[in-house]
Parts: sequence; C-alpha cells; structure tokens
Amino acid sequence: MIACRLDFGTSNSAIGIARGNAVALAPLEDGKTLMPSAVFFDYEAHRVLFGSAAISAYVGQTEGRLMRALKTILGSPLIDEETRLGSRKVPLAEVVGIFVRHLKHKAEAFAGQEVTAVVHGRPVRFVDGDEQADARAQAVLETIARQAGFSHVVFVPEPIAAAWHYEQTVQAEELVLIADIGGGTSDFSVVRIGPQRRGRIDRTGDILATTGVRVGGTDFDSALSLAAVMPLFGLGTRLAEKDLTMPNALYHELATWATINFAYTYKNEREVGGLVLEACEPEKVRRLLTVIGKRLGHRVAFAVEDAKIALSAGRDAAVSLDLVEKSLAAPVTRADFERAIRTRTDRLCEAARDCIAAADLDGAAIDTVFLTGGSSRVPAVRAAIAEAAPAARLATGSDLLSVASGLTQMAGRL
Ligand SMILES: Nc1ncnc2c1ncn2[C@@H]1O[C@H](COP(=O)(O)OP(=O)(O)OP(=O)(O)O)[C@@H](O)[C@H]1O
Ligand SMILES: [Mg+2]
Repeated sequence: MIACRLDFGTSNSAIGIARGNAVALAPLEDGKTLMPSAVFFDYEAHRVLFGSAAISAYVGQTEGRLMRALKTILGSPLIDEETRLGSRKVPLAEVVGIFVRHLKHKAEAFAGQEVTAVVHGRPVRFVDGDEQADARAQAVLETIARQAGFSHVVFVPEPIAAAWHYEQTVQAEELVLIADIGGGTSDFSVVRIGPQRRGRIDRTGDILATTGVRVGGTDFDSALSLAAVMPLFGLGTRLAEKDLTMPNALYHELATWATINFAYTYKNEREVGGLVLEACEPEKVRRLLTVIGKRLGHRVAFAVEDAKIALSAGRDAAVSLDLVEKSLAAPVTRADFERAIRTRTDRLCEAARDCIAAADLDGAAIDTVFLTGGSSRVPAVRAAIAEAAPAARLATGSDLLSVASGLTQMAGRL
C-alpha cells in the first residue's frame, strides 16, 4: 500500500507520496507542487476548475462561483450550510470533497497507481475553546477523505510536520518553538530535535507541547478590509432620516473570504438600494450596491490581500478598487495595518507563550523559533512571536511547503 501526505491548507495545498524510502511532492499545476485552495464552478462551460485556473477564470469574469478558504468552514457553523451553484444547492462540505478528490487524483497520476491511504495534516485547533466542535471538524474532514476514496486516514498536527521538516536542516540538538502562521490558523509546538533523533521511530517524548489558535492571514485580510476598504463603501456612515449608522453585517460578510458568496442575494440588493436613498453619503453606499450587483466581493478581497502582502515589504500600499469605480483606491500604511490586526497579533504572542508554558519551560529555554507559513512574513507577526522567546534565534524556511514536506518525511515513522 502506498500512502499520500496531504496538507490541505486554508489558502494553499500540497500532496506528497511516500513509497519505501522515496518521498516526493506531486506536481499540481505547471510542475509546481503547491496550489491555491480554490474551486471555481464555471457556469458558462459547465465545468469545475481548481487552483490558479479557478482564480484566473474568476478574475477573467467568467460567469460562475469561486470558493476559497474552504478549510475555515470546517470549524465554523458554515459546515452545515449549502451554497447555490446555478440552480442547485450544494453542501459546502461537498465542495471540500470535490477539492480533496482533485488532489487525490493528482497524487495518483504522480504515483502511477491508486492511493487509498492518507496522512492528513490538521491544525492543532480547528475551533478555539470548544473540544466538541473541534472533534467534529476532524470527523467531518475524515468523512470527506473516506468519501473521496481513502480507506485509511491518519491525522498529524501541522506544526509537528513542520518540525520534522525543520529538523532536516539542523546540525546539533535544539529546543525549538515551531510557529506555523497560515491562512486560517496558527499552530505552535515545542519540540526537541537533532541529527541523532531524526531516525527514531517513536518521537512522542520529543514533542513537549502543541497549541493552536484560529487566527491567520484570512483574518488579517478581513481586518484590513474593514479598516480601510469597507468605510469607502459606507461602513460607519450615517443614515439621514434616522439617527443610525449603516447596518454592518453585510460589510463583515463581504470582508470574510468564506462568506462573500452569501452577500449576493436579491434581498441584499433591494435593501442596499433602499439605503442609498437614506444615506448621508450615498455615493459610498452606491459602491456597495455595485459590489453586490456585479459580484465583485472576491476581487475586492484579492486586492486587499495584495495590499497586505505589499505591506510586509513596504511601509505604504494601496488597495486598488478600480473595478468598483474608476481610479478609486484605499491608501494603507503598515502602521494602520498593524493597528487593525493588533488584537490578533496579541493572541499569537499569547498562544506562543502558552505553548512554552505547556512544555513546562521558560521563554529563555527556547534555542530557536522556527517561523513558517505565509503569514509569518508579516513583520508584526514575527515581532509578536519573538516576544515569547526573547533569547531565541529566529529561523525561517520554505514558508509555504514546510508542512507538506514534513508530512512526506514522516514516511518511516508511521
Ligand atoms: N509576503 C506575505 N506577507 C503577508 N502575508 C502573506 C505573504 N505571503 C503569503 N501571505 C499570506 O499567507 C497566507 C497563506 O499561508 P499558508 O499557505 O501558509 O496558509 P495555509 O497553509 O493555506 O493555511 P492554514 O495552514 O492556516 O490552513 C495567506 O493569508 C496569504 O495572504
Ligand atoms: Mg498551513
């Protein structure tokens, strides 16, 4: 039997194959071993597209529906929701299944045979502070994997996989805090690693603690959108007749990847149309009507994400909103962004501290902090985590593929 290793990420996914001692990641698109976790239902050509092709079709304005951040629904009430695909209603869990099956096919094409076992990465926490809901999220994912054709399913915490990946690079024994800051969740583990330990079968004693929080890059996108973009669409503005501000639920829906599609209803269009007439700043609310009417929510979210990424390298950026209105842009500074995500970065620091404390250690005992995951590139995130282990050396590496490579390297251990 050959087993595949699946890193189904909120933003990006990868799948590897381990056969005997040979391990490798499967090419997913254009020879690349990582693809966006995105599905597009193309209403024009009646087909389903995945990854970058899904995003390109959506951006190219093909009529259809884009689904992104699918993994975040697992730990949320959305897991029981359906989405409208043309005239059909499909449970969101089924959309996750379609994506997992696509990855399975890619792994099989690479292996040249059927693959019926999977070592599946999972965040330490799908849900914060609710054991039952957390267990249910894993159970749903397991059902999805079984329905996709995997008869053997084993789950491994993502930061443990990232630890084994990092271990391949070290020359001496180290006590490491692994911080995997992804799209939907952030996972921490304190692990003892070293060249002599690498080959051991049972590593349970080397894993001193794991913690996780449901905070990630998609939350940063939401926070930035609500702080800088949604106000241009009327968030926080007043209504003339009544002493009220614009209702804000719709803005939150549009600012959150997993709920954007829910904003597109005739009821919303009608209501926002009515609010344009009552608004003190109707030109802003009219933009909201454009976003809903033309289904521009994901495009706005991509523009916000681009600006967020630009702020990791530069101090200023702009969210381009040309699509909504010619020459419209929301200027953003790194300082604004850091203010908008402050409660989240504080939680990351706290989660890192909790992990060290759960290992019965003091921050000073940590030799290295290994930062991985796309959102670990945010300077404020690095600073927040470094605070938890002030004396440690900061190490980084293969930000988006650490978990998948680590899972693949676990071959002999399972
Ligand atoms: N340079 C950058 N600066 C800031 N954020 C970035 C950068 N590059 C990528 N990101 C963010 O990283 C996130 C994706 O990271 P990653 O691929 O590690 O997540 P994932 O594995 O899909 O998610 P998870 O592990 O939470 O399920 C996205 O939110 C993306 O916007
Ligand atoms: Mg990840």
